Amino acid sequence: MKVTVVGSGAVGASCAEYIAMKNFAAEVVLVDIKEGFAEGKAMDLMQTASLNGFDTKITGTTGDYSKTAGSKVAVITSGIPRKPGMTREELIGINAGIVKEVAENLVKHSPNIILVVVSNPMDTMAYLVHKISGLPKERIIGMGGALDSARFKYRLAEALNCPISDVDGMVIAAHSDTGMVPLISQATRNGIPVSEFLSEEQQNYVVEETKVGGATLTKLLGTSAWYAPGAAVSVMVQSILCDWKKMIPCSLLLNGEYGQSDICLGVPAIIGKNGVEKIVEVPLTAAEKEKFATAAAAVREVNGDLK
Ligand code: LAC
Repeated sequence: MKVTVVGSGAVGASCAEYIAMKNFAAEVVLVDIKEGFAEGKAMDLMQTASLNGFDTKITGTTGDYSKTAGSKVAVITSGIPRKPGMTREELIGINAGIVKEVAENLVKHSPNIILVVVSNPMDTMAYLVHKISGLPKERIIGMGGALDSARFKYRLAEALNCPISDVDGMVIAAHSDTGMVPLISQATRNGIPVSEFLSEEQQNYVVEETKVGGATLTKLLGTSAWYAPGAAVSVMVQSILCDWKKMIPCSLLLNGEYGQSDICLGVPAIIGKNGVEKIVEVPLTAAEKEKFATAAAAVREVNGDLK
């Protein structure tokens, strides 16, 4: 099956690379607006095929969306990334127009497409795509929780001084420095609550470092991160193409779930061949419920800027 990745910058190229390396897609089409850039990235990646042992064909195009026709999934990474000190929300002015145009072009050439939205501010961009694309809500999925949960596991393993494969945990609510809700109360090491191993202070440290995970990297790198975002997208795309039905926290249009409607926020969902197959409602503590509602209010305010 065919996957399109729009935006061939660091995040888009990493998406394409991980998807190809996992060898589950027939073709990845890279798109960019910068003349020759997607073609160059595609050629460079294709020249790794014999070295890395994948059969996925990677092609590139400068804005010719007819090349994306028949895509099962498209990943939207277009727009500008944040610079050190910026919030994701500050990108809305530039990125909203770009994401709108990209989504319209994709749907025009692949009416049955599933869209994975990565551009920031992601929860608002996913909401925008719902408003303008005409796609059923099951086919628009924002990428945030998969990445934020991976960062949460990284911090949990660091605090526990154990391998990452020992830990499990999930981040819900908004993909923003203040709106992320890492579910520390439900995080485990081999099924045992992490509160058995970590002091309150250590747990708070894990939560706070997770929330600013993206900002920490932006400060170190001078631009937004790409390896973990790319890997997070590749897992979501694989769960769709292989119909794995993995439970992944994603930014989805809510219709009463978690007490919210007409907003995209990160919630756990089963992701399979039809896109979102089911939103999973997990019991939250009173404090987590309150944080979820606060995050929703903040995202609603940013959504208001779309007008
Ligand atoms: C990050 C970007 C992808 O969190 O939002 O790194």
